[in-house]
Amino acid sequence: SQNIFILGIESSCDDTAASVICNGRVLSNVVASQKIHEEFGGVVPELASRAHQQNIVPVVDQALSQANIKKSDLNAIAFTRGPGLMGSLLVGTSFAKSMAFGLNIPLLDVNHMQGHILAHFIEEDGFKKPPFPFLAMTISGGHTQIVKVSHYFDMEVIGESIDDAVGEAYDKSGKILGLGYPAGPEIDRRAKLGDPKAFPFTKPKVAGLNFSFSGFKTAVLYFIQREVKKNPNFITERLNDICAAIQYTIIGILIDKLKLATTQTGITHIAIGGGVSANSGIREALKNGEQKFGWTTYVPKIEYTTDNAAMIAIVGYLKYLEKDFAEDNVMASARLKI
Ligand code: KG4
Ligand code: ZN
Repeated sequence: SQNIFILGIESSCDDTAASVICNGRVLSNVVASQKIHEEFGGVVPELASRAHQQNIVPVVDQALSQANIKKSDLNAIAFTRGPGLMGSLLVGTSFAKSMAFGLNIPLLDVNHMQGHILAHFIEEDGFKKPPFPFLAMTISGGHTQIVKVSHYFDMEVIGESIDDAVGEAYDKSGKILGLGYPAGPEIDRRAKLGDPKAFPFTKPKVAGLNFSFSGFKTAVLYFIQREVKKNPNFITERLNDICAAIQYTIIGILIDKLKLATTQTGITHIAIGGGVSANSGIREALKNGEQKFGWTTYVPKIEYTTDNAAMIAIVGYLKYLEKDFAEDNVMASARLKI
């Protein structure tokens, strides 16, 4: 049997990533995260684009050398076409195009959101793949979606955020509390030490399977302002309880919508992806859902849930098997849909 080597390249937001996979198995998975955005409390698009330009050559070199292969061993190159920041996407797109052209091998364009979902099909010992059809919930700093996945490339978004992503709800709440960026991991850590019912935050009322998180962030802001007026040390004294209450509310929102999605579709296999799937609370709530609601849940390794290029390479591999190659004139697309 033949070995198919795919190089994946991801540059949609603030991580420059490259990965080599062979027949769906990961040989290398390199990510250069950009620290520059921390001091601004969010991703600055122009700075992200410049950092990608600096990182892309060394990151790709490292991915090839860690995989212990030469450029000439590659069968095809997969890259993130969108969605994402245009200036960031352009770096990966033009790099992948020139490299594939130079090596005279096929180019594979990949939708980043399909990457988060199809990361579950990376060959990995000890991880089971979800059977079709399944529901995928992608939760990160840039996206919040529930997708009905009927086959690899037959997907339908059945719910999504109408404003902020769930990761933004974490990060913006963290900013109000004076925590560093991104605040999700620290809120998660502190939430385990606090009382989830200490303060009641109301869940936004959004019809159907859609989400809204911008009101939640405002609710946190007003609550904190009101309490700090009464007690200037409120945040420091109650930080763990505040974090626990924020986490409890956010997870409640996600689980409520998943429950609705499973009743509406009759599908009980649930796979998650995106940076927020690292959250200990959501992982526990999904596990409990197996007992409580008869769900079967799929949680990938953390390095395949945050932005990475192995997930881009696996989508590329699946497309390669179907000979679904990119056109020579393929362009980055900031608002690419599933
Ligand atoms: O997928 P990702 O690395 O990048 C994109 O946004 O595409 O996700 C980053 C997001 C940030 O908002 C970060 O705060 C959040 O994931 N995050 C978490 C946790 N770890 C990362 N949120 C809650 N709990 C965590 N443990
Ligand atoms: Zn992402």
